[in-house]
Amino acid sequence: MSFDGDTLSVIENPAAVSHPFHSEKAAGVTEPKGVQGWLKGIHPTTHAQRLVRLLAAVCAVGLLGGLAVGVWFLVKLLLKPSYSQSPVGLGDTKETSFCNVTEDISISDPRKGSVFYRISPENSLLEIQLGKLPTWLPVCYERWNSSLGTLVCRQLGHLRLTKHKGVNLTDIGPNFTDGFIQITSEHKSNLENMWEFRGNCITGKVIALQCFECGTRAKLPRIIGGVEATLGRWPWQVSLYYSNRHTCGGSIITSQWVVTAAHCVHNYRLPQVSSWVVYAGIVTRSSAKMAQHTGYAVEKIIYNKNYNHRSHDSDIALLKLRTPLNFSDTIGPVCLPQYDYDLPGGTQCWISGWGYTQPDGVHSPDTLKEAPVPIISTKNCNSSCMYNGEITPRMLCAGYTEGKVDACQGDSGGPLVCQDENVWRLVGVVSWGTGCAEPNHPGVYTNVAEFLGWIYDMIETY
Ligand code: ARG
Repeated sequence: MSFDGDTLSVIENPAAVSHPFHSEKAAGVTEPKGVQGWLKGIHPTTHAQRLVRLLAAVCAVGLLGGLAVGVWFLVKLLLKPSYSQSPVGLGDTKETSFCNVTEDISISDPRKGSVFYRISPENSLLEIQLGKLPTWLPVCYERWNSSLGTLVCRQLGHLRLTKHKGVNLTDIGPNFTDGFIQITSEHKSNLENMWEFRGNCITGKVIALQCFECGTRAKLPRIIGGVEATLGRWPWQVSLYYSNRHTCGGSIITSQWVVTAAHCVHNYRLPQVSSWVVYAGIVTRSSAKMAQHTGYAVEKIIYNKNYNHRSHDSDIALLKLRTPLNFSDTIGPVCLPQYDYDLPGGTQCWISGWGYTQPDGVHSPDTLKEAPVPIISTKNCNSSCMYNGEITPRMLCAGYTEGKVDACQGDSGGPLVCQDENVWRLVGVVSWGTGCAEPNHPGVYTNVAEFLGWIYDMIETY
């Protein structure tokens, strides 16, 4: 459904699989049946006999009860070996043993498909690698069109095509001895199975491409070892104000679209599009500074239809700004993840936000904070000592088993970015976590790679 004006649009995400997730909790050990029945089955006899039987029964009940409690504790201990369920007020009993997880990024090739694309930084030529062969080959101009360019740009995590043209091979030198890639006559929208090897290009021309620029930042000085971010370091970071209060973070992906978490905008906050203001190009949010920056009004809020507030599944939303942002050294878009790439556990990424700096904090810092956090594989994060199966394919974990560094309240909706081939990609959206920076409870992020189709669809439609 879709409304106009001061309202929102709720659009179903056709790509996502509906996956109502229920974590499997340990079945509580109930009291053995039959205890009551045995007591009831006693025949009426003498007082002494009755007393003895009653005593025996009480003993038996006590024994069985004790056994049951013992078993229950054992089951609990085995299922959650390092997680104290009641951390409040029990500081001294809090477990300090960490999950013994290891992440090995060296052995895995993150590429999943069979056709890979790159754009040469020197001459902007589109190059294709077929089936993990070691050679990258340029693409013949024959049968090329701009919609193919858009698909290639999106495959690479850029929102759109900005320029494309055929370049004469004679203009770019003689080093094309390995061959070319030619588009087959069959036009497929998924970009697989539509390329073939050729010895030469009939027209003598190859494709040069330029995609929407993103994920770069101006070369700026940074605080060594510091945690306060400097202006321009995370130019895609925005602060989302709801009713004049910082409520969530967000990430710029185009001049008019911001990605955030669905839980930031759902329910009571949803219909009041006019209560939201987006602040870009800032690191300090003090009111004086805020006054100088005119916030951006929101025109539309689209949250993912599969968002589930219990499981936090599909926790992603898009905000459309009423007027486009002016990109500068301090305001700019982040790239999206590439299609068909898996992010291996152990990859170093970064989070930024104005969220609480103490787990029990009550207000957000004035200056944007940043911290490096490694990706934790879903396999490890779903283990019984971490989130015990609560992590769906639409989530990602990042952080440390020992805790200490994490996102927290107020960081939600903000970016988890990883640098890849010199561009920064929005890999995750701050979504949830048990407490903040607790051992064995890393931050959980929306897995943006799972929503690429949805993001492109929404941006194209609205
Ligand atoms: N849900 C929180 C928010 O609305 C963010 C939670 C992130 N928690 C964490 N431990 N990483 O701001």
